Amino acid sequence: MELLEVLEQLRQEIDAFEIKDKEDLSRFKRRFLGKEGVIAQHFKQIRSVPPSLRPQVGKLLNALKQKAEEKVRKFSEEKPFEVPQPRDVFLPGVVESEGGVHILSIVTYRVISFFRLWGFKVAEGPEIEDDWHNFTALNFEEDHPARDMQDTFFLSEDKQWLLRTHTSTVQIRVMERYKPPIRILAPGKVYRNETISARSHCFFHQIEGLVVDEHSSFADLKTLLYSFAQAIFGEEVQVRFRPSYFPFTEISAEMDISCQLCGGKGCAVCKYSGWVEILGCGMVDPAVLENCRIDPQKYQGYAFGLGVERIAQLLYQIPDIRLYAQNYLPFLAQFRFLT
Ligand code: PHE
Repeated sequence: MELLEVLEQLRQEIDAFEIKDKEDLSRFKRRFLGKEGVIAQHFKQIRSVPPSLRPQVGKLLNALKQKAEEKVRKFSEEKPFEVPQPRDVFLPGVVESEGGVHILSIVTYRVISFFRLWGFKVAEGPEIEDDWHNFTALNFEEDHPARDMQDTFFLSEDKQWLLRTHTSTVQIRVMERYKPPIRILAPGKVYRNETISARSHCFFHQIEGLVVDEHSSFADLKTLLYSFAQAIFGEEVQVRFRPSYFPFTEISAEMDISCQLCGGKGCAVCKYSGWVEILGCGMVDPAVLENCRIDPQKYQGYAFGLGVERIAQLLYQIPDIRLYAQNYLPFLAQFRFLT
């Protein structure tokens, strides 16, 4: 057979070759394009072709090679999508685990949203404080026991710097900076040098409230706190105010609510009294207003400070205050779906 006919046959063979899958493809490559493939063989033998024909044969071989390469390229481009295997819809899904809002944050937000309705704005203050904002401006006597090493984490030898022991510090910071009328809520962490047990921790959370204007009264304070208790614990809740003492309020009281765990019958949480204390409150002492350069002749106010851990404990029957800060996931996860 003439060489030119052989090449023409090759051209037809390349055209006719159907590449359907990877195996066809490698067979095709091996036959036409590999080092041992037919086209390469012909190139190797080009010396045996009469010189007058060589240019033509060379051209044809190059054309064949391109044609074969083109076909390989086309197959790779057109490669059909792999049809996914049908899934077994009964296999358990992969569940991504999600974090949630901490129970103390949830309770804090709830308290804030109640007081927002009453026109309170949120204020904040630092956890590292000075003696003035934590004690002196709040009318603590020089030798008041709360200043004692037992309770306070002092940060300096001269006791001028400390970790705040209550959020009442924010009362002072707000009154120093803003003129009445004032209506703020200050949530935050506080620290006390206490032995850690199921009932007490060296840090916990408080929410402070402060109102200063020309006409607020103790009756207003009681009404506000009673509806607060109803909003958080339900309409059935009972409250009682007991006379108390704080250096920065006069008159002072503590508010108890009917124990939410035993319904008032008496249990370990309410120490068999049926009542649990949830906050301290009172009318702002005129001396405190004066310390913040607010005229006590013209203005008066009330304040309260409540414990967030205690409220969460009563709402969700949490038996041990240490649970809040342990990062024990099964405990935290119980509240994941609350808002
Ligand atoms: N600061 C007080 C405490 O930590 C609570 C309180 C706040 C009492 C405001 C009266 C008014 O116990």
